Amino acid sequence: MRRLLIAGNWKMNLKLDSAKALAQGLKDAAAGVTEVDIAVCPSPIYVQPVAEILSGSNIGVGAQNAYFEKAGAFTGEIEMAMLTDVGCQYVILGHSERRHIIGESSELINLKVRAALAAGLVPIVCIGELLKEREANVTNDVNRRQLDGSFSGVSAEDMKKCVIAYEPVWAIGTGKVATPDQAQEVHADVRAWIAERYGKEVADVVRIQYGGSVKGSNAAEILSKPDVDGALVGGASLKVDAFMEIINNVKAL
Ligand code: 13P
Repeated sequence: MRRLLIAGNWKMNLKLDSAKALAQGLKDAAAGVTEVDIAVCPSPIYVQPVAEILSGSNIGVGAQNAYFEKAGAFTGEIEMAMLTDVGCQYVILGHSERRHIIGESSELINLKVRAALAAGLVPIVCIGELLKEREANVTNDVNRRQLDGSFSGVSAEDMKKCVIAYEPVWAIGTGKVATPDQAQEVHADVRAWIAERYGKEVADVVRIQYGGSVKGSNAAEILSKPDVDGALVGGASLKVDAFMEIINNVKAL
């Protein structure tokens, strides 16, 4: 049975005081939660103070991006080993905001996925179609292309460690959430892709999160679908109560 992973992507939000307060508030509020895995992904500059607060708790820490090269002359970039050094266990890679605003390609994301795995991090690899792609009925093609590119050269053993986050771009920050059936349909195809490439044993263990306007009131319905193994949460992860409402509403699933 796959354990649900509820991860908060804080994106480029909060300041030092509010990031620390949110981490402390979640640490206290989630202290008794054993049924699901929880993680938060602050801005890179706040990863270390947040990781210090959450050290020894049941909440993991992730970054929102990092570079694939080892230490060297890469001004402005962050090495995977720097993340583990300050207490990170996860790194989000290929978020649609990085694919579509910053212009990251699946080839670049693939280099990052392999570097993250080599550094012992769990990559949370995001995929998802644009509205026009859904309307053109190419949703599964687009997601499979992103999967092909992002996981090229990743071994079966490494694939088992990865998390995939399906985030339809039209549902991110828009309040428009995919219906549970829409999510399940894509998640099932993602799992079929894993099975075709790596076999059923691997497909059965890889967790596939849904992301896009997840909140307390819709989380349980989406996450009760058989191939939805968690949520990657943006806006609703920025307040203790809103994030805890999601966790509390899905922990019994
Ligand atoms: P929202 O939950 O704000 O729609 O963001 C989703 C997301 O992009 C998480 O990575």
